[in-house]
Amino acid sequence: MLNTTNLTPDGHVKLFIPGPVEVSEKTFRAFCHPQIGHRGSEFSSLYESMHPRLQELFGTKGPVYLSTSSAWGVMEGAIRNLVQKKVLNCMCGAFSDKWLDVSKRCGKQAEGLQVEWGEPILPEMVDEKLSQGGFDAVTLIHNETSAGVLNPLADIAAVVKKYPEVMFIVDSVSSFSTVPIPMDELGIDVLLTGSQKALALPPGLALFSASERARTRAATMPDRGYYFDFIEFHKNWEKFMTPSTPTTGHIYALQSKLDDIFEEGVANRHARHAKLNEMVSDWVEANGFEHFAREGYRSKSLVCVKNNRNIDVSAYCSALKKKHKVAINGGYGKIKGTTFRVSNMGDESEATIGELLGWMTECLPR
Ligand SMILES: Cc1ncc(COP(=O)(O)O)c(C=O)c1O
Repeated sequence: MLNTTNLTPDGHVKLFIPGPVEVSEKTFRAFCHPQIGHRGSEFSSLYESMHPRLQELFGTKGPVYLSTSSAWGVMEGAIRNLVQKKVLNCMCGAFSDKWLDVSKRCGKQAEGLQVEWGEPILPEMVDEKLSQGGFDAVTLIHNETSAGVLNPLADIAAVVKKYPEVMFIVDSVSSFSTVPIPMDELGIDVLLTGSQKALALPPGLALFSASERARTRAATMPDRGYYFDFIEFHKNWEKFMTPSTPTTGHIYALQSKLDDIFEEGVANRHARHAKLNEMVSDWVEANGFEHFAREGYRSKSLVCVKNNRNIDVSAYCSALKKKHKVAINGGYGKIKGTTFRVSNMGDESEATIGELLGWMTECLPR
């Protein structure tokens, strides 16, 4: 039953999985804003008022669009809007691997640059592929959530810049707002994220920006569809509107979250995520586990723990849920059970992560 004092149902399990993450009561109250008409000034003023702060988080002077979809909508949209010749999909885990499949399902010519899960995509690998010619787009997942790998974005961006025809499409779904991502400076053409990860909003909203170059390319693309047509997004953005009916609850929740982020300070927010991530990493080593991702390329928003102690991960996650009403994740896809993941995204603090780690120690099989 919903507890009307704090809006949390009795017996609620707090999420420390790498998305969706826990939504604060303040955010949830903002999300529950009464409906407004999305073609009126109330909506456009709301969008316009948030836009400078969105641009700051995206590291761009360009437009930031709001898409009523999860991230995959924009990930697929970027392929449809930008790939004329062939796309290079950088693959290092479940989500980046799937992008190759999605590109092919869109009827595009696509090639994968695959590394082992846990390993990063390195700039020289991208250079080697692009130098073969024929590509006009590359996709990169900045933070591969399944494996806990943070790819060296700036170094890869420097390589992509050498190929003027190639559009650089970057997914920052689980890194956005946890580390700096200066879109314009790095020459990123599409930067996208989702609502339910570090932004700690409910799932269902994606945010993205597209460079002028990307929009120029998109305008020439036949069959780019309607719902994720970047040109439609841009035309509507000029009036601070969206092509189709937006999820206004999310947009009020986003406004509330932006207030929180800028009150904390963006640099302080990055430092908080780094500190919390370090606490989880220290716990890994102190308890005889190893990291799944290679050192030097580890996520700052979650930790993917290698189950080198060979514990029963599913029983471990169940014990945490039953005894302490917290959820961690028992590994994704082909590394389910041989890894487990702990998120430090969203509104967590040293106190809440410290408490979680205490319970994780208590529930470990002896
Ligand atoms: C890095 C990354 N990209 C894309 C996605 C897909 O997001 P969604 O399922 O919200 O579309 C996820 C989901 O966890 C993700 O972690």
